[in-house]
Amino acid sequence: MLQTARRPTAVSPVSTPPRAAATTPPPSVRVKGFTRSFGATSVLKDMNLDIQPAEFVALLGASGSGKTTLLRTLAGLDPAPVDQVSTPAARAVVFQDPRLMPWKRVWRNVALGLKGRDIRERAEGALGEVGLSHRLDAWPATLSGGEAQRAALARALIREPKLLLLDEPFAALDALTRIRMHELVLKLWRAHDPAVLLVTHDVDEAITLADRVLVLDHGRIAAEEVVTLPRPRDVDEAFQAIRRRLLSHLGVAGHGPSAAAELIAFRPRQDAH
Ligand SMILES: Nc1ncnc2c1ncn2[C@@H]1O[C@H](COP(=O)(O)OP(=O)(O)O)[C@@H](O)[C@H]1O
Ligand SMILES: [Mg+2]
Repeated sequence: MLQTARRPTAVSPVSTPPRAAATTPPPSVRVKGFTRSFGATSVLKDMNLDIQPAEFVALLGASGSGKTTLLRTLAGLDPAPVDQVSTPAARAVVFQDPRLMPWKRVWRNVALGLKGRDIRERAEGALGEVGLSHRLDAWPATLSGGEAQRAALARALIREPKLLLLDEPFAALDALTRIRMHELVLKLWRAHDPAVLLVTHDVDEAITLADRVLVLDHGRIAAEEVVTLPRPRDVDEAFQAIRRRLLSHLGVAGHGPSAAAELIAFRPRQDAH
């Protein structure tokens, strides 16, 4: 069973007495012995995974290794036995495709499904947090790819999720926009404190953002790296050592740092902002 990691803090060890085991909060996500099959093929095999409240976990793995299947299960989009998969009720998902409804203005997309008189104000607040205050009444078709993904993040946030599920949300964005989105996601994570599961093909993105990086291989978690480097993270020696180990788990050892880029090279890039 995988051990969980806590977010590193800068608190002095002398001022913090060791916590009693009894005070440890229950995990936000618990997956225990879960198998997911399509026909005769098991995509997730006897999986065990805990994610702590407010922990940021990244999930790497080759195409077809079962990442989206796990994410859909945690999102409640696919069925799972309650004794094998437990998650907070407040969950939200952001996919690679922002999935905005073209016939609804941006704020209405963000407020989709919400009720009450104050939904416009709430949408305004969420869009303000992602830097889109000026696009409230815009039509989705007029947004850049980066803006559309910000709107998708606002739509997730407005639901105040305890678990935020991100399935390659930056894969279609250009490099500069991705860096801005990384900063935004970290800011939102700190402000709202959800547990996060980020699926990505990008090893550097995983190390830059997460407390813990998992490698999924043929339906099993084959490796994990706890990342305790202080944020913001530079690509220093410690970072590179983690990258080398993860690339090795992904079966691309010995190809140098560019292998990280190769892993994502086949992903379409279509955004300019
Ligand atoms: N609804 C489905 N029916 C049949 N096979 C599926 C379904 N969803 C996923 N699969 C299969 O499960 C495997 C894992 O898919 P997926 O979780 O999407 O992988 P990843 O996100 O890691 O690329 C793939 O072989 C895929 O074809
Ligand atoms: Mg996928």
